[in-house]
Amino acid sequence: MRDKYIDFFKSKGHSYIASASLIPENDPTVLFTTAGMHPLVPYLLGEKHPAGKRLTDYQKCVRTGDIDEVGDASHLTFFEMLGNWSLGDYFKEESIGFSYEFLTDVLKINPDNLAVTAFAGEGEIPRDEETASIWKKHGMRDDQIFFYGKEDNWWGPAGQTGPCGPDTEIFFDDGRPKCSAECGPSCHCGKYTEIWNNVFMQYFKDSEGKFTPLKQKNVDTGMGLERILRILNGKETVYDTPLFQGIISEIEDITGKKYGENPEDTRAFRIIADHMRASVFILGDGVVPAKVGQGYILRRLIRRSSRYMSKLGYEEPFMERIALRIISEYGKAYPELERNKEAIISAINGEELKFHKALVKGLRRFEQMAAENGDSGVMKGENVFRLYDTFGFPVEMTAELAAEKGLKVDMEDFNSRFRTHQDTSRSGAEQQFKGGLADHSEETTKLHTATHLLNAALRKYVSPDIQQKGSNITAERLRFDFNLDRKCTPEELKSVEQYVNDAIKAAIPVVCEEMTYEQAKERGAIGVFTDRYGEMVKVYTIGDVSCEICGGPHVKNTSELQGFKIKKEESSAAGIRRIKAVVGKFD
Ligand code: ALA
Repeated sequence: MRDKYIDFFKSKGHSYIASASLIPENDPTVLFTTAGMHPLVPYLLGEKHPAGKRLTDYQKCVRTGDIDEVGDASHLTFFEMLGNWSLGDYFKEESIGFSYEFLTDVLKINPDNLAVTAFAGEGEIPRDEETASIWKKHGMRDDQIFFYGKEDNWWGPAGQTGPCGPDTEIFFDDGRPKCSAECGPSCHCGKYTEIWNNVFMQYFKDSEGKFTPLKQKNVDTGMGLERILRILNGKETVYDTPLFQGIISEIEDITGKKYGENPEDTRAFRIIADHMRASVFILGDGVVPAKVGQGYILRRLIRRSSRYMSKLGYEEPFMERIALRIISEYGKAYPELERNKEAIISAINGEELKFHKALVKGLRRFEQMAAENGDSGVMKGENVFRLYDTFGFPVEMTAELAAEKGLKVDMEDFNSRFRTHQDTSRSGAEQQFKGGLADHSEETTKLHTATHLLNAALRKYVSPDIQQKGSNITAERLRFDFNLDRKCTPEELKSVEQYVNDAIKAAIPVVCEEMTYEQAKERGAIGVFTDRYGEMVKVYTIGDVSCEICGGPHVKNTSELQGFKIKKEESSAAGIRRIKAVVGKFD
């Protein structure tokens, strides 16, 4: 399916680009890549993409909004999105034409089984009659075309600000009778399944909620791989597709239980399958279990899998086996999994072992606590915190365990205890989901260039083996994670800061060139996520200070930064240090 999709769009003049990392680069407000467009935001806003104006890919995505819903027929944390983009190139006519041709000619879906939607118009944005008339040209009847407002037919921005626009969504209609006179694609009776979303991204939503036309009219489309496979295979759930069968049969072998025999076990199977798949991919992008951020989500996924395995009656370590199966099944499409196999396995084993011992004891303690709290209907924050602190129970897991006993947890009390006991706050991580994509303001652009200078300085004064392990930029500061198994000395930090300031004073031009990945390598450019680049890459050179593969944007000259100051150097995870720094005029 992945190949069919990519080949089709290549035949329509699109360049294939590799899936970007699940960890957004230079994006402070979201933990994971949530859609195919996410890594492309700078290009939707007008940056030139080195691979051209027509792009296609399959992108790994993680959405953590409803981890607790996983286990039903459709919710997933990890999924793959097939996508194609026009960056100021074609628009509605071609986009709809491509989708229709792919669905009916390549996938052989009967046009009678399709239904489509268009934007009904709302506020300052007019009704999208053009989209409806294009669909009609392809033979769609009036009764297959539905108009909806912003609630249904508008996509983005992915966060609070960014590119967005009206969309046309394509649904598979399974042919059963309508459940009511109003039944249509927005109905949840199951007759209609959304398979593809074509977004006509032509607006920018600013922080005041105002829409302004973008420099260029883009198309951003996304089709869920799991869903389209479910439909083409005529299956009831995504778990019955080939994407999950291997993982599920592995769980069957390990536990001796059969998938699908009773609802409770079926839910456990699905949770383990989903969470293990997500965990392997997150580990594959270099995240390790931790108390905050992506590492905390990873920890939750791993620990929740462990608990559901014990619900299936299996109390021994099992994760390595499932992880190996996932790596072997997905490694061809995602070579980073094969490449990082050892690190994935060792991290998953480490986390499993760490939690395993605590789980059995912690569950026993939980039972006692639940009994003590039984009458009030509420589990005390003190107990929830004890389970977290002593047994490593993610608070969401305790809440879930409590709910199974009809108990609520006192989150307010837990949170206040948590805040006083930890200098790093989990709710900080949660806040990140609520935010939006990074803006590309002057400030963030400066900090982005400062990040390159800092990276170069660290390699010069601290260790030549230093590599970027994460970057996160807000309008206020940069945050840069890198590998080093010790603290930086004050002298080192001083030299690093000085070096960056010297580069700023020297007013060095920042030069951007496009070349192939191989040429960039020959040039000695450093790059973090090498898999994500297509044929051509952008290389930003700052005199003889820095040469990095990067999507941009950057300032034109280092003097724009004015000055650079390191605010903090601290540990981020085992073997990873973190520097926070700011730019501006300092006296
Ligand atoms: N960005 C659009 C989506 O995620 C295609 O549905």
